[in-house]
Amino acid sequence: MRAAQIDRFGGPEELHVVTDAPTPTPGQGEVLVRVLAAGVNPLDYKIRDGSSGLAAKLTADGFPLILGRECCGVIEQVGPGVSDFAVGTRVFGMAPLSHRGECYAEFVALPASALAPAPASVDPQVLAGTALVGLTAWVAVHDLARVTADDTVLVHGGAGGVGQVVVQLCVAAGARVYATASTAKRSRIEEMGAIHVDYTQADFTQVTPRPDVIIDGVYFSTYEPSMDHLAEGGRLVILPSLADLEPARARGINVAVPTISPDRERLAALATELEQGRLTIALDRVFPLTEAAAAHRLVEEGHTQGKVVLEVAND
Ligand SMILES: NC(=O)c1ccc[n+]([C@@H]2O[C@H](COP(=O)([O-])OP(=O)(O)OC[C@H]3O[C@@H](n4cnc5c(N)ncnc54)[C@H](OP(=O)(O)O)[C@@H]3O)[C@@H](O)[C@H]2O)c1
Repeated sequence: MRAAQIDRFGGPEELHVVTDAPTPTPGQGEVLVRVLAAGVNPLDYKIRDGSSGLAAKLTADGFPLILGRECCGVIEQVGPGVSDFAVGTRVFGMAPLSHRGECYAEFVALPASALAPAPASVDPQVLAGTALVGLTAWVAVHDLARVTADDTVLVHGGAGGVGQVVVQLCVAAGARVYATASTAKRSRIEEMGAIHVDYTQADFTQVTPRPDVIIDGVYFSTYEPSMDHLAEGGRLVILPSLADLEPARARGINVAVPTISPDRERLAALATELEQGRLTIALDRVFPLTEAAAAHRLVEEGHTQGKVVLEVAND
């Protein structure tokens, strides 16, 4: 099968397409998915260059490693122990953290529990980019920050992959939401019901009230001023997993980083929100599988609006 893989850790040039990768066999509890599209996430380039804590674990059995943690596709084969999915069902979802994933490919074997049925009315390319950002935002907003209508929330990177879902979940919870993003992303932020804070023109600490909650998808340049700006007793959720939480803890700030595991019930809830138009996932750009390295370069620059997706096959 065709697949985009690495033979060692390194730059985007290490990501190359082969045509003779072995088609996986679904194991216990798994299904084989014929991939229509795969989502590209910052985690993917951190695995590709070896900087993610996951990189060593995923390659413990060696290279090559096909990249990609999430997809939308059609069930091609049902593995042993799976009784709740049938061949031909369109599904979307993501690999659990300990799973090799390998979604940048024509076929991937994934646990059935990590997938949910895909609504027919939602574009498979949108669904391919929904699971990882959707579940992360859900955990950040509802499980960790516990955002309510009484909260003022500041979201850093509000038009990014995760940020766009965080903003929409906070607005849906009734919160007053400020979202930082560069100048060109103003209309997207406002369309989602938030107040745009152009971080290229203004210091967010000067133009926003002290928030009860900060959800930070940026971290490096925003962490220190966010700790200073957060309201007394406020909650801070930082998205990048490599974040050092000690400085915030030392100041007595309630701080957390989301850890996600795929969950069919939550995936199904996200699908319903998309289907009924209460949630939108914007796509920045769709690349063919053959241009996976270019997709990584774009995501690595860190200024996309919404998701980057690889198209693997037509339905
Ligand atoms: N813990 C987890 O389970 C988990 C899950 C998913 C993602 N993450 C992490 O969360 C981070 C965000 O992920 P993502 O998928 O949303 O990334 P993304 O799609 O690349 O979005 C990043 C966004 O941040 C904006 N940005 C860049 N610098 C900024 C700044 N100084 N201030 C405000 N906005 C800025 C960018 O656009 P503009 O600069 O043009 O506004 C872009 O829209 C990544 O580090 C990722 O690895 C963690």
